[in-house]
Amino acid sequence: MMTQNEMLEKANPRHVFDIGDLSVEEIDDLISLAESIMEKPDAYEEVAKGKKLGSLFFEPSTRTRLSFEAAMLDLGGNVLGFASSDSSSTTKGESLSDTIQVVSNYVDIIAMRHPKEGAPLAAARRCLVPIINAGDGGHNHPTQTLADLITIKERKGRLDKLTVGFCGDLTFGRTVHSLVNALCRYEGMNFAFISPPELRLPDYLKEGVLARSGHPYMETGSIEEVIPSLDILYMTRVQKERFFNEADYVRLRDTYILDLDKLHFAKRDLAILHPLPRVNEIAVEVDDDPRAAYFDQVHHGKFMRMALMMKLMGLEDPLKK
Ligand code: NCD
Repeated sequence: MMTQNEMLEKANPRHVFDIGDLSVEEIDDLISLAESIMEKPDAYEEVAKGKKLGSLFFEPSTRTRLSFEAAMLDLGGNVLGFASSDSSSTTKGESLSDTIQVVSNYVDIIAMRHPKEGAPLAAARRCLVPIINAGDGGHNHPTQTLADLITIKERKGRLDKLTVGFCGDLTFGRTVHSLVNALCRYEGMNFAFISPPELRLPDYLKEGVLARSGHPYMETGSIEEVIPSLDILYMTRVQKERFFNEADYVRLRDTYILDLDKLHFAKRDLAILHPLPRVNEIAVEVDDDPRAAYFDQVHHGKFMRMALMMKLMGLEDPLKK
């Protein structure tokens, strides 16, 4: 019988905290695998038979949690976990690292969301199985980025040479941070960051990833100014839960509302993305416009999570044998 420390040493799992933990080639492979699953879902329905997902959500989520859980069920596996920190032992004072180590004895992979930036990294130190970051505070959200990338690829046929506008809460929007990180690795990109001055992209991204990539970018307060040039428009909600004061949130929340009038000046093949949940940033009238791609992101997200979980658990693609 092995001790827990021997098991930890032997396990040495691969985690995904950040989209940078996956290479561009790996992302391409995941997109191909997700497309293959989308095309022939029946071929994959027993791939993860006997496997379990630990779905540990210390912060509210509808899409991401249900998408991970549906992904595991559609691969023939099972799910256990909790949907809020009130129902975990952290309320008794247990450390996150202990909770994760305990759960990792019962499951084969963990999807975890936490309000603290860097929490999954801290939790991984003594974890027996792969951890996927399902959102850590205002920091990163790599599996949303995988859903965004496959949607862009499907709409534009490529992930390079694109002019991408990000609009809304660029300070706290973790999906924006992860997607900027991912897109900076492709050639010939051009970015426009549209936000009120209080909600600009953090300096660490501008001075780090963006500066290193050499891609041109501009910051503006006006969606009208840039909309005609965009191939992709990534709308986001103002992140109410990360504001220190309600008055600031109320003042900023409706700064941008994308409607058909504004879209009048956009390209005919623009793709409009939004990680959802939407509040008021996109008028409902836009949903019927062929440029709306935000519900496609939801659809794709489950398949990308299936592909990623297969990869991290080392499961073979049954169609590639
Ligand atoms: C996003 C998130 O949780 O960061 N939602 C999601 O996972 N699709 C975006 C948001 O909450 O605004």
